[in-house]
Amino acid sequence: MRFDIVTIFPDMFAGPLGAGLLGKALEQGRVEVKVHDLRQFTHDRHRTVDDRPYGGGPGMVMKPEPLFEAVETLQAQHPTKATVVLLTPSGRLYSQADARRYAAGGRLILLCGRYEGVDERVHQHLADEQVSIGDYVLGGGELAALVVVESVARLVAGVVGDPESLDDCFSAGLLDYPQYTRPEGYRGWSVPEVLLSGDHARIARWRSERQIQRTRERRPDLFRHSNPESPSGPGRRRSKKQTVLTGE
Ligand code: 6GU
Repeated sequence: MRFDIVTIFPDMFAGPLGAGLLGKALEQGRVEVKVHDLRQFTHDRHRTVDDRPYGGGPGMVMKPEPLFEAVETLQAQHPTKATVVLLTPSGRLYSQADARRYAAGGRLILLCGRYEGVDERVHQHLADEQVSIGDYVLGGGELAALVVVESVARLVAGVVGDPESLDDCFSAGLLDYPQYTRPEGYRGWSVPEVLLSGDHARIARWRSERQIQRTRERRPDLFRHSNPESPSGPGRRRSKKQTVLTGE
């Protein structure tokens, strides 16, 4: 899996990319991430990447030329065509289904927009897709790009043990069940008796009930919208960590 990130803040990436499983995957060469300073693709003395909006108004808009030049340069470096994703708060909401699709594609170019805006011709004629990571405003797409890199990289073979067992919750459209580890009693709070019972069928039933209850309470939207990954709604698509839901 190869990622090219185009940004005006290349320094934001070294820390997050060096740590944890992602850092290890990069070291082992399972995943490749190259960060490119957008200013490298400018030609004027001031290395200008933005300008005032036509029609007036506050803030600055990212110019099209450096972004087009960056993408064209990066596409030409590699035989496989990359999917070009613009990270912008006006994109559609990013999901686990996108992560799986990007991991299957093998190559991504991530363009970090700044929140004030990017020239519309980039949206229309350069980016294949535009994504946002949630309904809040970030100063730029950099943290969003890192979210995409981490969520896609962990689906690449060998990066984590068994990614599908870990992304169950979104594959199945339900939140995960509560987990406990030792000690059995902590500050007077004890582990639910069922988990100590050794009765695997009872444990599976309890977990499945907790998943449904938790999803109802915290994410009722997951019940309302059927997503393409679980067309028949939550709980219908079972995976390793789940059991048959009965009496729902
Ligand atoms: Cl992709 N960019 C910015 N600037 N803000 C965001 C975002 C992206 N996703 C959520 N908020």
